[in-house]
Amino acid sequence: MSIWSSPTFQNWIEESTPELKKWFEEEIKFLKENIKPGSRILDVGCGFGRHVEILAPFCDEVVGIDNNDNMVKRSEEKLAGLINVKIILEDAKKMDFEDNYFDYVICMTNTFGNLADKKIEALKEMKRVCKEGGKIFLSVFSDKAFAARLKSYKKVNFIITKIDGSTFHLYNEVVSEQFTKQELKDIFESAGLEAEIIELTPIGYICVTTKPQT
Ligand SMILES: C[S@@+](CC[C@H](N)C(=O)[O-])C[C@H]1O[C@@H](n2cnc3c(N)ncnc32)[C@H](O)[C@@H]1O
Repeated sequence: MSIWSSPTFQNWIEESTPELKKWFEEEIKFLKENIKPGSRILDVGCGFGRHVEILAPFCDEVVGIDNNDNMVKRSEEKLAGLINVKIILEDAKKMDFEDNYFDYVICMTNTFGNLADKKIEALKEMKRVCKEGGKIFLSVFSDKAFAARLKSYKKVNFIITKIDGSTFHLYNEVVSEQFTKQELKDIFESAGLEAEIIELTPIGYICVTTKPQT
């Protein structure tokens, strides 16, 4: 069984614990408050299109990429009526967009924590496709999230195959990490970026960075 190809992930979002639900709500509030209407957006690891659907009504163009074909199919079905939306099957570490294309690149709900050894490559790609002066918003689990994550996984009977420090291995296929502020700063530095790390809720950080002008 795959965590992404069954309704498992959707159940985790919809049937989650109060702490997780609060985090999901705050992520959406952040996007609505910080994305300028009329922008061009890329959602990296868009899943079944939750954030794409919310942004499409006030943005010019919203593109979602995901490397799981089931997620892409489900997003396409759900968002079929939205003419300014495109969903693409693609890996975050090598995206087929021109340089400096998007006003905002978002990567939500700890997708970044699922990228394992692709994290820095993926962040460099996000930087490449973001316009100079554009912004990258990356929302991840904080170092205080472990207990809340465990509780949320147990609530929907996620299969935890291994716990390695604060990293969960789920369904034998996905790793899910959480991050300290310093780890995030170091990751951003490796990609040639500086980020402000904001505590969105007690379990989540949102990293905000502006791509510098050259
Ligand atoms: C935690 S889910 C989040 C989905 C969505 N952002 C949301 O909040 O509903 C992570 C998503 O990232 C996708 N993903 C994982 N690794 C990826 C990669 N290397 N490239 C693109 N997508 C990836 C998964 O298929 C999954 O849909």
